[in-house]
Amino acid sequence: MSQIHSGILGTGHSYPAGILTNADLEKMVDTSDDWITSRTGIKQRRKAAADEYTSQFAVRASRQAIERAGIKAAGLDLILCATVTPDQILPSTACLIQAELGSDKAAAMDIVAACSGFLYGLTLADAMIRGGQSKYVLVIGAEILTRYVDYTDRSTCVLFGDGAGAAVVGAVEGESGILAAKIRSDGRYEEQLYAPGGGTKGGFSAETIARGDHFFKMKGNELFKVAVRSMSDISREVLEEAGLTTTDVELFIPHQANQRITDAVASKLNVDESKVYSNIARHGNTSSASIPIGLDECVEAGRVQKGDIILMASFGGGVTWGGVVMRW
Ligand SMILES: CC(C)(COP(=O)(O)OP(=O)(O)OC[C@H]1O[C@@H](n2cnc3c(N)ncnc32)[C@H](O)[C@@H]1OP(=O)(O)O)[C@@H](O)C(=O)NCCC(=O)NCCS
Repeated sequence: MSQIHSGILGTGHSYPAGILTNADLEKMVDTSDDWITSRTGIKQRRKAAADEYTSQFAVRASRQAIERAGIKAAGLDLILCATVTPDQILPSTACLIQAELGSDKAAAMDIVAACSGFLYGLTLADAMIRGGQSKYVLVIGAEILTRYVDYTDRSTCVLFGDGAGAAVVGAVEGESGILAAKIRSDGRYEEQLYAPGGGTKGGFSAETIARGDHFFKMKGNELFKVAVRSMSDISREVLEEAGLTTTDVELFIPHQANQRITDAVASKLNVDESKVYSNIARHGNTSSASIPIGLDECVEAGRVQKGDIILMASFGGGVTWGGVVMRW
């Protein structure tokens, strides 16, 4: 009897209408379109309005993914929402999404793995389906990062944007589906990207808020090197486990953090530029939403064909990283 394996049955994405351009940022901090474009590749990012919140975009992306998967929301048995910018501390954003979708049978929980959250979710979904625990898993990456960005800190505020992407994962037959998935972390790099306020350690008070402890702090330069190394290494590992090489890859969707990181990883892996997806110019870094938004944009543009080998790799605060290779 052949083993059960999992695959993506439908994808979706959603983002705010609001746009924050490099020209807008030029008016806010000492920066320039030229610096941002040449150092990051970013031209604009989406920014949620003050009355918008994370689960709204997650639900829109999820409805699209569910419809395209040809199932009903009530048929889901697990909802995993990767986010570091939840609607609120309690309950999980996944539970709020579960109620909104009417997925009465589904367990729901959030995954906090920063920019690797979607690949963490995909890896868990794959294991749950292969283990027979779940039939249909909804994996979401959703963020409103602009709420946690310090718009007086030019080294971080130019990078981040908002949005959500989702995928329905279920059992598939034949050759298609997830071929290998791996996730990793190293908490010793905690201070490369973190927000010290708002929790039980840093606390929250008028003082912590005035100090901006809840904003993201980042050592961009150091993170850059860890990102390139970890994404390249894990990509090779998942390809090797699947019995493939980089020449088999038709589409590479890396986490969109910086165009220079993407270029460095693609060059280390020897993946041709034409096979590397980039939307960083339009979206900036949307953390856990970046890969599922990218994947759905590729699906919508007809850039993925049945049988194509797709490689996805990510890294993020924690630090965390992950890689997934699948046959579409
Ligand atoms: C943040 C990042 C774009 C900075 O680019 P960099 O080439 O490493 O630049 P550096 O941090 O070395 O800074 C170089 C100079 O530019 C300045 N600078 C930083 N941000 C700037 C901005 N927005 N506009 C103009 N100048 C800026 C710095 O102050 C520094 O000036 P100095 O040399 O006078 O001290 C880059 O390091 C990066 O993308 N890192 C990874 C971050 C990331 O992906 N984080 C999310 C993880 S998922």
